[in-house]
Amino acid sequence: MKRSSVLIFAAALFANGHHSLAHEGGDFDSMLAQKRKADITFAQLMQVMHQATSMIFDGILYENPETVALGAHLLAEHPAPANGPAAAILKERRDDFKNVMPTYDKVFHGSAESVTLNARKRNWQEAYAGYREITDACVACHATWRPHAISRQVEGMRR
Ligand code: HEC
Repeated sequence: MKRSSVLIFAAALFANGHHSLAHEGGDFDSMLAQKRKADITFAQLMQVMHQATSMIFDGILYENPETVALGAHLLAEHPAPANGPAAAILKERRDDFKNVMPTYDKVFHGSAESVTLNARKRNWQEAYAGYREITDACVACHATWRPHAISRQVEGMRR
């Protein structure tokens, strides 16, 4: 298992308890300060993340390095929801959620860079390994955090 995946799974495990990951994942406030703010909800940000991820995969299938590079740019440079990235999560879990977020952000930045480099070299299998690092992170966070989304607490509101 790659080191980044280990970090994610560690983050996912700890996030279930009430431990602080501030020192493991880096600082949430400094991560947020670097992001452009957009008037979208967290779920709408997720829709953008999905488009970015599928563009990377499309580029790998097309063997088109530009499609991969543009998708990777979108993934790494995504904005933050203006009302705060933790607003989608139950109040009592927001601090834990903020603490794991920088870890994922780092994985996305690192993988975006490696998929782009590998696509430019036309190393499609290595690019695909980077794509899988990204989707592993998406699904790891969903497994831990979607149950704590406000949208999940109300019958019929499940996203
Ligand atoms: C830091 C945790 C986290 C990470 C990382 C994450 N997600 Fe999510 N995602 C969530 C949560 C929480 C929700 C539920 C939001 C809600 O219901 O309000 C969600 C919901 C979604 C949805 C449903 C959006 C909708 O309209 O209902 C999609 C699609 C999605 N994520 C895609 C992705 C993709 C693709 C990635 C990886 C590139 C990713 N997510 C990474 C936490 C995360």
